[in-house]
Amino acid sequence: MACCGRSLDSPCTLALLVGFQFAFVLYFSLGEFDYSRPHDVYTNLSHLGVPPPPPRNSGTGPPVTGPPLRDCQIPSPLLVGPVSVHLSSPLSLEEIRQRNPLVLPGGRYRPPDCEPRHHTAIVVPYRNRQTHLRALLYHLHPFLQRQQIHYSIYIVQQWGNGTFNRAKLLNVGVREALRDEDWGCIFLHDVDLLPENDHNTYTCHKQFPTHLSVAMDKFRYRLPYPQYFGGVSAVTPDQYMKMNGFPNHYWGWGGEDDDIAARVRLSGMKIVRPPVAIGHYKMIKHKGDRGNEQNPRRFDLLKRTRLNWRSDGLNSLTYDLLSKELEPLYTNLTVNIGEDPRLPQRKIPTARKPTPPGPQHNTSDDGNTAKLEERQESKRALEANVTMAKLGREKTDPAQPVALNQTKQETGVVK
Ligand SMILES: *[C@@H]1O[C@H](CO)[C@@H](O)[C@H](O)[C@H]1NC(C)=O
Ligand SMILES: *[C@@H]1O[C@H](CO)[C@@H](O)[C@H](O)[C@H]1NC(C)=O
Ligand SMILES: *[C@@H]1O[C@H](CO)[C@@H](O)[C@H](O)[C@H]1NC(C)=O
Ligand SMILES: *[C@@H]1O[C@H](CO)[C@@H](O)[C@H](O)[C@H]1NC(C)=O
Ligand SMILES: *[C@@H]1O[C@H](CO)[C@@H](O)[C@H](O)[C@H]1NC(C)=O
Ligand SMILES: *[C@@H]1O[C@H](CO)[C@@H](O)[C@H](O)[C@H]1NC(C)=O
Repeated sequence: MACCGRSLDSPCTLALLVGFQFAFVLYFSLGEFDYSRPHDVYTNLSHLGVPPPPPRNSGTGPPVTGPPLRDCQIPSPLLVGPVSVHLSSPLSLEEIRQRNPLVLPGGRYRPPDCEPRHHTAIVVPYRNRQTHLRALLYHLHPFLQRQQIHYSIYIVQQWGNGTFNRAKLLNVGVREALRDEDWGCIFLHDVDLLPENDHNTYTCHKQFPTHLSVAMDKFRYRLPYPQYFGGVSAVTPDQYMKMNGFPNHYWGWGGEDDDIAARVRLSGMKIVRPPVAIGHYKMIKHKGDRGNEQNPRRFDLLKRTRLNWRSDGLNSLTYDLLSKELEPLYTNLTVNIGEDPRLPQRKIPTARKPTPPGPQHNTSDDGNTAKLEERQESKRALEANVTMAKLGREKTDPAQPVALNQTKQETGVVK
């Protein structure tokens, strides 16, 4: 640990943030990709534009199988590395469709000339982000086609004007996608994140949930804190079941991704990540949306993940699928997920002392050991206890937010 300076910029800290399993890779792959000379995101796709006339389509009746396709190569020979990302003024949906002639209704694709090894559903929680959606579709379709995977893009649109609930929409998307097809991998994808390197393959790790957006421009191309799980992540259906899906009770911005990360640990798994040099993403800038205000309860909810994750999630999910439309570039699931049930008379025991949002975000600043993740978790649990026990304590100034300080003192004690 001697190598770890205070500075977040030190390579050592960076490596710790990424996780030890990738530290090695990180050191040797930095510089491997030249992001200053990105390729056009449609590079190499003209090869696919004119597929050889498939013999299995000749004749009528059920598709007669021609000679079996060879397996797609891994890695795909079409990959180019860094691709350019255009954040502004995306093309119209019709123009994007024309540039992706092999994409089928519902936003589906299967490589025409080889048998794909991966089957991935991309689930995108959504509401009122037309421009972002077009940028994502323009970018993601060629990106995924170059990876030679079988995929489909699902937009899960929250109906109505109620508070946005990203995690519940993800639950809906996973369930509906699995109704369609036996996907081997499900991507949980924010609409405003565009991948910058096609070596970041949209496939799953066999054992563990994957976090893909490890280096976002918004966070100066590094993890904002070690167990960050937001942006773009991926699970297999098995992993998803094991963690009982995602929480349904996070209305408004923030916290749900930390809850999901906690579920991963609580269900006995860990998070795996690609090297920082590969996991580059650009985020489309935008102002906060109406209907997606910060969730003031997010810290209170997090404290209870440990208690709730088995009962709140996939097994308690209810919703009303209002429509499912196969658009040329995506499947549009419109869903009524209900409203935030929070009411004034509803008493939340731990909400007596709201935890200030500010210092909570400084989680990575004191991190200099591999135990940080554990500590974070016990910290959260402790915050709940501290808050509850607070009134019984001596010498606590009721006007001061003390949770963080007390947590720090006690972190070493509780395991
Ligand atoms: C893909 O594009 C790159 C860059 O233009 C090129 O070097 C490479 O040969 C192409 N790959 C294939 C399989 O066409
Ligand atoms: C949402 O709000 C808009 C305008 O404020 C309104 O026209 C629309 O009917 C509302 N939708 C629902 C489902 O309530
Ligand atoms: C999805 O379908 C709903 C219902 O038809 C429609 O109101 C909405 O505009 C569609 N959204 C997108 C992004 O296509
Ligand atoms: C939290 O981080 C900000 C800058 O990111 C810094 O100014 C502030 O002092 C930090 N607070 C604590 C309690 O570490
Ligand atoms: C909260 O405190 C009680 C007793 O002080 C202890 O038994 C319990 O394990 C604590 N819970 C957590 C989550 O730390
Ligand atoms: C925070 O903890 C330190 C010791 O760990 C103590 O000296 C300081 O007074 C505490 N501050 C508050 C506001 O409780």
